[in-house]
Amino acid sequence: ATETHQQPEVNIGLVGHVDHGKTTLVQALSGSWTDQHSEEMKRGISIRLGYADATFRKCPEVDEPEAFTVDETCPDGAESEVLRTVSFVDAPGHETLMATMLSGAALMDGAVLVVSATEDVPQAQTEEHLMALDIIGVENIVIAQNKIDLVDREQAVHNYQQIEEFVEGTVAEDAPIVPISAQQEVNMDLLIGAIEAEIPTPERDESNAARMFAARSFDINRPGTTWEDLNGGVVGGSLVDGTLEVGDDLELRPGREVEEEGQTEWRPITTEVRSLQAGGRSVDVARPGGLLGVGTGLDPALTKGDAIAGQVAGDPGTLPPTYESFEMGVELLDRVVGEEGEEIEEISTGEPLMLTVGTATTVGAVTSARSGECEVSLKRPVCAEAGDQIAINRRVGARWRLIGIGTLK
Ligand code: GTP
Repeated sequence: ATETHQQPEVNIGLVGHVDHGKTTLVQALSGSWTDQHSEEMKRGISIRLGYADATFRKCPEVDEPEAFTVDETCPDGAESEVLRTVSFVDAPGHETLMATMLSGAALMDGAVLVVSATEDVPQAQTEEHLMALDIIGVENIVIAQNKIDLVDREQAVHNYQQIEEFVEGTVAEDAPIVPISAQQEVNMDLLIGAIEAEIPTPERDESNAARMFAARSFDINRPGTTWEDLNGGVVGGSLVDGTLEVGDDLELRPGREVEEEGQTEWRPITTEVRSLQAGGRSVDVARPGGLLGVGTGLDPALTKGDAIAGQVAGDPGTLPPTYESFEMGVELLDRVVGEEGEEIEEISTGEPLMLTVGTATTVGAVTSARSGECEVSLKRPVCAEAGDQIAINRRVGARWRLIGIGTLK
């Protein structure tokens, strides 16, 4: 029998406007539901990066594209062959949550941009998310033209042309556009084929020191668990370099805030890897790529409610420094995305900015601004390296809007 379980090896972002069908698509491809958190259920939006893995397969005796499937059994009764397992980063489409989209984008090796055929193109977050992909440098993109079951042929063609016009001159200019119905599972084979062709698994060096970006963290214990049965804190994210093994020591930066004699200071935390979850299973060794859950020896109070999200984990002594303030080169966008004609003014001293660095999002106050660069003092420190890209957001009205990209000096 073919191997039925593989670790995910690539992260694919699912981006697009609210309600265009991202969650439904992940569900169609993976059989799992990413809207699993009660708060998300209540609000009806995915407020955090959802995790779901899908194993893409191919039927040996069938021509492409019909050969592509997520089913283990082919229509002719044969067993399908595993191509690879992918992790979906289900980025939220709600307008105020651009920062979460950007912190997810740091983990994306490629993206599927979901565009509903039932609305004019582009809707606000369709444009914002494409811009974010462009800025973060996510170049391998497939466009899923969704909900084609709700429109007639003429509307579908018109919408398709609108998409083509919209992506002209953007990072998605050459991206294939695949008409689908996620809900009716129409053209899933074509979509899988396009993802396989457009979003290759990046080459990664397993011999490097382990480096993981934390996107979430949890306390998995039920209320009332006694200390003997208590599980250590769980950190979710993606290993971008090296491997992690059960029993390895693990350092987390910035770590935790410690108060001593009235002074507070952030100190790295060191713990051990107690368990690893990849592709929905326990594994002894986690390889880079894909989303990963790491059971640690940490006090679960430290990891509760995504408290560790945005931190970097890896082999002790190998992580980049922690910055409480930094200087960055600034490149402003030409105009505010989604706001027709709204010009972007220079960054000024004293103004608050929301900055996304890797998977970390923090507010910073500008302590000094010059043309093309500025210094910020951060509310929460970040673990980062010179040269890292920073998404810069400014408060415009009631929202944080993406205004530019910074480079850590
Ligand atoms: P957020 O997570 O809130 O950003 O939304 P989303 O993009 O994940 O959209 P979701 O998958 O929740 O879909 C929104 C609505 O559209 C749901 O009611 C789906 O059932 C419906 N829907 C999604 N895809 C299709 C489709 O292909 N055809 C039809 N008819 N309905 C669809």
